[in-house]
Amino acid sequence: MMETDLSALEASALRRIEGAQTPEELEAVRVEVLGRRGALAAISKNIGKLAPEERVRVGRLLNSAKEALEAAFERRKKEFEWQALEQRLQQEWLDLTLPAPGPRPGSLHPVTQIQMEIEDLFTSLGFAVLDGPEVETEYHNFDALNIPATHPARDAQDTFWLTDGNLLRTHTSPVQVRGMERFGPPLRMIAPGRVFRNEEVDASHEHTFYQLEGMMIDREVSVAHLIYFMKTLLAGIFKRDVTVRLRPGFFPFVEPGFELDIHCLICGGDGCPVCKQSGWVELLPCGLVHPNVLRMSGIDPEEWNGFAFGLGLTRLAMMRYGIDDIRYLQSGDLRVLRQF
Ligand code: PHE
Repeated sequence: MMETDLSALEASALRRIEGAQTPEELEAVRVEVLGRRGALAAISKNIGKLAPEERVRVGRLLNSAKEALEAAFERRKKEFEWQALEQRLQQEWLDLTLPAPGPRPGSLHPVTQIQMEIEDLFTSLGFAVLDGPEVETEYHNFDALNIPATHPARDAQDTFWLTDGNLLRTHTSPVQVRGMERFGPPLRMIAPGRVFRNEEVDASHEHTFYQLEGMMIDREVSVAHLIYFMKTLLAGIFKRDVTVRLRPGFFPFVEPGFELDIHCLICGGDGCPVCKQSGWVELLPCGLVHPNVLRMSGIDPEEWNGFAFGLGLTRLAMMRYGIDDIRYLQSGDLRVLRQF
């Protein structure tokens, strides 16, 4: 009786092992048949009730069934393992012959890009590119530029004064003075650089920004020369027609002085935070060099004269690239810089 049960059990268990479709299904069969509380264990518990000679025979049959089922189970388990491995090999592979991704190249800051373009433009027109110190003397930043002690630019609100009496230059104009001192007339120079003002920071004001100074000294330089160079400059930068307007402007170191404004390129003139809702952006203060300035740097204003301009390089970069908040430029945020 027990024998037929046993062989029926073995045969059906074998079929279920072979037919198992998943490792989980296979494991369920194992627990049910070979487990500690499984069908074979139940049979072996009853062996004790048999006659002694029967006991030996059934015991052997039980063992051989158990071995056969365990072997079948191991085989099927191996098959699943191979299948899983095969699947992984299909999915996870690396082509080691592909070229490796190179290091990500850096890019030039938008202000640097514009600066370099303008340097190219002006060097092609015969201008030298000069450099000056960011820590300046009061003389070069103010006095030599005909800026009296009462001028608002000297106000403690605007200038970062150092304890030794020097200051962080508030504009690139002191490089005009250094250029005249060093080279004398005739002179064609530009001077790009970083300038500092003790400003309340907002979307269009930074305590640190960039200007590009320009100066030409020669005989009989007129406003017509100035306008010609400014138009050449703007056409070179924007590569399209930009609407401009000239207003009289006061700077102690030029006479006459002008403010050259351009139509705001962010909003197209409709008004936005950058142009303070006016539609115009002050971009290019300029004028003819004041005779006092020439004289103080040892140049005879009876023989020589010239023009000067101070381009807001930072503001220009914002216009050109449509950046609506000046604070991005100094943030060092790579997510911003990678876009240029
Ligand atoms: N230095 C002036 C400023 O920073 C700009 C300027 C330069 C104006 C040259 C006229 C001529 O505001």
